Amino acid sequence: MDKTKPLTIAVPKGRLQKPVMELLERAGVDCSELRNPSRKLIIPVPGTEWRFLLAKPADVPTYVEYGAADLGVVGKDILLESHKDVAELLDLGFGCCRLIVAVPESSGIRDIQDLDFNSRVATKFPRITTEFFSRQGIQAEVVHLNGSVELGPIVGLADAIVDITETGTTLVENGLVPIGDIARVTSRLIANRVSCKVKYHTIEGLVRRLREVLAESLD
Ligand code: PRP
Repeated sequence: MDKTKPLTIAVPKGRLQKPVMELLERAGVDCSELRNPSRKLIIPVPGTEWRFLLAKPADVPTYVEYGAADLGVVGKDILLESHKDVAELLDLGFGCCRLIVAVPESSGIRDIQDLDFNSRVATKFPRITTEFFSRQGIQAEVVHLNGSVELGPIVGLADAIVDITETGTTLVENGLVPIGDIARVTSRLIANRVSCKVKYHTIEGLVRRLREVLAESLD
């Protein structure tokens, strides 16, 4: 790995982008260029050798594993699903939600053990879902969707879903109720394993500042 290459931070586009920028700014990283609305995907950090890479959230672990980014921010849900070989450095605390199993309220089912044998479960997280149901000893058929998973039961594609819920609004508006908790999800700072060694001092310095900012938020 080239030590002189700029330190690259993969920032997820979408709902996590704003809290990521706020946190980095509090840790002293200038995010002004990142705040500029543009279609640029590689954005320099003014006055430094650092840069941001704007990525789809699900791709952040891939950029980091392959060293295209040294650091990245990603939800624990995506991290678990991706199964990438990266170092998890910090729980950033924001982007808090739950990964749950839900069914149509009208089904009357209120416990995952009451799901029918070979129930179909729609999800964006096929790996997590398969592992969860297997751990519970429940035979289920996992159907992989890329979004709007709540549609699955409405159109008869699935009996249940595994998805993240934050406010619960999407579940309620689509007549679904949670019947099982899989994991609590927050955003994580991840790092390429080689970068952790080669760029130890830069990464360690940023992690230290982030820890201080996160500790201040708790005071
Ligand atoms: C996520 C998730 C739920 C919704 C939950 O979807 O998959 O659909 O947010 O949020 P709530 O509990 O606050 O209503 P996202 O907006 O990422 O879109 P997607 O379903 O197309 O992936």
